[in-house]
Amino acid sequence: MNLQPAPLSDTRGRPLRDLRLSVTDRCNFRCGYCMPREIFGADYAFLQRGALLRFEELERLAGIFAKLGAGKLRITGGEPLVRKGIVELVARLAAVAGVTDLTMTTNGALLTANRAAQLAAAGLSRITISLDALDDAVFRAMNDVDFPVSRVLAAIDAALAANLSPVKVNAVVIRGVNDHQVPPLAERFRGSGVIVRFIEYMDVGNTNGWRMEQVFPAAQIAAAIHRKFPIAPLAPAYPGEVARRWRYLDGAGEVGIIASVTRPFCGDCTRARLSAEGKLYTCLFTRHGHDLRALLRGGAGDAEILESLRGIWQRRADRYSEIRTSHTTRMPKVEMSHIGG
Ligand code: GTP
Ligand code: 5AD
Ligand code: SF4
Ligand code: SF4
Repeated sequence: MNLQPAPLSDTRGRPLRDLRLSVTDRCNFRCGYCMPREIFGADYAFLQRGALLRFEELERLAGIFAKLGAGKLRITGGEPLVRKGIVELVARLAAVAGVTDLTMTTNGALLTANRAAQLAAAGLSRITISLDALDDAVFRAMNDVDFPVSRVLAAIDAALAANLSPVKVNAVVIRGVNDHQVPPLAERFRGSGVIVRFIEYMDVGNTNGWRMEQVFPAAQIAAAIHRKFPIAPLAPAYPGEVARRWRYLDGAGEVGIIASVTRPFCGDCTRARLSAEGKLYTCLFTRHGHDLRALLRGGAGDAEILESLRGIWQRRADRYSEIRTSHTTRMPKVEMSHIGG
């Protein structure tokens, strides 16, 4: 059986470099732009436990993806820290041959100092924590579970203390909701070593009622920062980096802006996404995923799964953000809480 690495690229010449693993579709927040309470309420049909990929299945798939070039692994959700046994999963994934960068996107609600230390010890390389506002009332309204800013700030401190570096903070910016929070967030983390990245609000999923007018464009985000703290562009940290980097001219570090609406980056998109029930999505905005759980549970061997993945990637042509129109924004798409952004 030959499982040697082979150069792999899709129909647009893009290699496979990143795997984003959603480990649960559940979350303890109800951010209106991701899991609006009216839809993700008591009646919502979340995945049952048996539907989720088991740790050994995730580990096995991570190994096969790594052989195809995806050495960068991000654990997502929903909220990954609500998955039982998450520290053990991190340890298993960190030990997979070919995994060179293991990180996680979390809302920080369950990231105590103890948990951060356990994750670091298990092999998590770094962490990204979502925080959309510094103003407590604005943040409590956005997460819609009345969760205070102070506890996310404590989680960020816990991540720093555990050396999960660089610690990044993701803030989705929505016009009229939290665009006035851009300068305070930038100010709070300048000079702290924490890298804030502001994200344009995207039309992912079909439940958030996204409208173009709600997008606060990257150019305005940059201008809002620049007015208070002058910035200048920086080169990408690695090929295909999603965030555009800016440095503070006074030496207080860097800040990032992710402009998937006004400046799409599909040309460099090397990301594959796996939902918690084992569906593989080759774009954030597709409707259908490829059922890898059926392959795994149907008894397929590693070589067969690897060949299947190779075929899927070779046929990939996705570039949704480059072809977004008022028509495409209304098309059925997978929910963000299923594939973790
Ligand atoms: P680093 O490895 O730290 O650079 O992380 P990253 O920026 O690649 O990943 P992260 O999950 O932090 O991405 C931040 C946000 O950018 C996500 O929550 C999405 O909103 C958006 N994003 C990431 N990847 C894509 C993508 O492939 N397409 C689109 N349209 N948006 C993306
Ligand atoms: N647009 C942009 N980013 C989003 N996220 C969730 N929904 C959206 C959206 N509609 C981000 C979260 C978090 C990550 C998981 O994805 O804020 O940082
Ligand atoms: Fe949960 Fe993150 Fe979605 Fe908010 S954006 S509901 S924290 S998964
Ligand atoms: Fe990649 Fe799809 Fe995002 Fe484009 S829209 S960058 S193809 S995930």
